[in-house]
Order: sequence, then structure tokens, then C-alpha cells
Amino acid sequence: MRYRKLGRTNFEVSDIGVGAWGIGGKQWLGGTDDESLAALHRAIELGVNLIDTALAYGDGHSEQLVGQVVRECGRRVYVATKVPPKNRIWPARGAIGEVYPYDYIVRSAEESLHNLKIDTIDLLQLHVWSADWLAAGEWRRAFEDLKRSGKIRHAGISATEHDPDSALGIMETGLIDAVQVIYNIFDQSPDAHLLPLAQKLNIGILARVPLDEGALSGRFTEDIQFPPGDFRDWYFRGNRRREVVQHVAALQRDLGDGASIPDTALRFCLSHPAVSTVIPGMRTRRHVEQNTALSDAGPLPPETLALLKRHAWDRNYYM
Ligand SMILES: NC(=O)c1ccc[n+]([C@@H]2O[C@H](COP(=O)([O-])OP(=O)(O)OC[C@H]3O[C@@H](n4cnc5c(N)ncnc54)[C@H](OP(=O)(O)O)[C@@H]3O)[C@@H](O)[C@H]2O)c1
Repeated sequence: MRYRKLGRTNFEVSDIGVGAWGIGGKQWLGGTDDESLAALHRAIELGVNLIDTALAYGDGHSEQLVGQVVRECGRRVYVATKVPPKNRIWPARGAIGEVYPYDYIVRSAEESLHNLKIDTIDLLQLHVWSADWLAAGEWRRAFEDLKRSGKIRHAGISATEHDPDSALGIMETGLIDAVQVIYNIFDQSPDAHLLPLAQKLNIGILARVPLDEGALSGRFTEDIQFPPGDFRDWYFRGNRRREVVQHVAALQRDLGDGASIPDTALRFCLSHPAVSTVIPGMRTRRHVEQNTALSDAGPLPPETLALLKRHAWDRNYYM
């Protein structure tokens, strides 16, 4: 496993981390807690030392599983979690006073600490962000007070889906240490401004949704079924399954039959030096073993990166 500095924090984080949305058990269905716990333990054994979770993932269930593993494992594992929007609307909508009032941010951090059963959150992120909120003072004061009281070490945000530029303003304030952003073969838009700015300002980057919610898993078909109520059943609704299959087939043709789509997708993220860690969702030991092995494979060759540029796909399935 290789490690990279998380921006200007003193954290040396594994360049493959774990995204813990799927293990929450409510939005992604079909896994079991025993399998998730085994996958998390295996990831840590293989050198992973950063896990990204959120209070909203299974209403605290993901945090509870992550906290259990972090306490049991006997190693230093960095925990990143998130404050959900008070109005529970994703992507961000409304005035900041309704979405992130001071008391609410503090209470939410305390609830996360309670679920995780740890003393300090390494990285607390606002789960949604709007560029319109920049001037407001409440989030700034809440982050500062949480740091002062020792409840969090660092603060960050999760950039709006497919709108990385919405994070540029808050990055310039110097008040956040990390941004997590959608970055994958289909959405390469952070290359334009966000990643260069992160390098310039030394802000940590968590590359999220690297497998496009499973579209880049290499096992997607036009008639793939998800359990009713599973987030993916909504995300890949209508003719989206067909669109995905067509785009992935074009990608496979360009890469060649032998190329692994998920391996290429994760190495794509590792290829950008601004990325501190890529956080695929993985609920099984098999996926953990396959994905962590890619750390040593490292960046893709420039000719593959040039080829992948042609596969950027401008769309927003979160709407
Ligand atoms: N707004 C936000 O802040 C936000 C939004 C979305 C996600 N996130 C964060 O980003 C993380 C990653 O995104 P995500 O989990 O939504 O989606 P993702 O990482 O793009 O895709 C996860 C899917 O890929 C599958 N997978 C993993 N490794 C694989 C491999 N080697 N081969 C084939 N399939 C593989 C997983 O299967 P299994 O689950 O069966 O292992 C799962 O179905 C989240 O867990 C969360 O921490 C944040």
C-alpha cells in the first residue's frame, strides 16, 4: 500500500481508502453486517488507513460499524464523516441558516462521535455545499469551535455532484483542509480547476464514486436488477442502464478485451497527483483485495490517460 499526504494535515493516508456508504444497510441493499465488518478488517490488514462514512449512511449504522472496526483493529485509522443537511435535501438547496445552523452542526458531530464511539473525528465534512453559502459565518464558527473543543481534527466539504467548481470559493478561504469530489473516468471535470487549485493550496482530495456507483464495476448489464428501494434502482432508472452499457462497451473496445474496467477506473483516480486517496465502496473481502492491490500498480501510463479523456461523459444521474 502506498500513502499520500492529505493536503496540509499531517495525515499520511493510504491512496486506496474505503467508502462506507454501501455498508449502512438502508440505501444500498443486499450486504450483511458480518460481510461488511470482515471487509473493513481485511482492508485495514492490507494497509488501508482511511475510511469515509457519514451520519446519513443508514442513519448512523455505517458509522457504528466503522467505529467498531477502528476500535478493534489496534491500528491508527483515520475516520472521515459528514454532517447531513438539516433539511435532508441532496444536492444542496435552501439558505445556509436552514441547512447548516451552528447548533445543528455541533449536535450532528456529537451524534457521529456517539455512533463511532471514538473521542475525535479526524475529518468532519459538510455533506452538501453551495457556493452561495460562502459569506455566512455559522459553519465557520461551528468548525472552529469543534476543533477548539477537540471533537474534530480537520474540516472539509463534499462538493456538489458534478459541479466541482462550486467548491473553489470555500477552498480559497483557508478554512477547510479537504474536499471530496466525484472523480471518475466519466466525470473528469475536476481536472479543469478543482484539482489544480487543491495542489496550489495544498488541500486534501478524497476522490469519491470512482466506479460511478457501479457503472464502472465491469459487471453492468442492460437488465441488471437491484433490490426495490436500493439507491441504484433509482439512480440507474429508465434508459440509463442501456446508456451505461453503451458507454462501458466503447471504453472496453478502446482499452482492449483484456483490460479490467474497475482496475482502470481506480488507477485513473490514482494517476492525478492532487488526489490524496480514492474511496471506492466495497462490501466484500474480494473487492477489498482486488482494489487495494492497485495501490502498488500506481498511475496509468500517459497514453492510457489520453485515451480515457475521450470517455468523459457529461450527465447528472443524481437529478
Ligand atoms: N455526497 C457525498 O459526499 C457522497 C456521495 C456518494 C458517495 N460518497 C462516498 O464515496 C464512496 C464511494 O462511492 P460509492 O460507494 O457510492 O460508489 P462507487 O465506489 O463508485 O461504487 C461502488 C460499487 O462498486 C462495486 N465495486 C467495488 N470494487 C469493485 C471491484 N473491484 N470490481 C467490481 N465492482 C466493485 C461495489 O460492490 P460491493 O459494494 O458489492 O463491494 C459497489 O457496488 C461512498 O461509499 C461514500 O463514502 C460520498
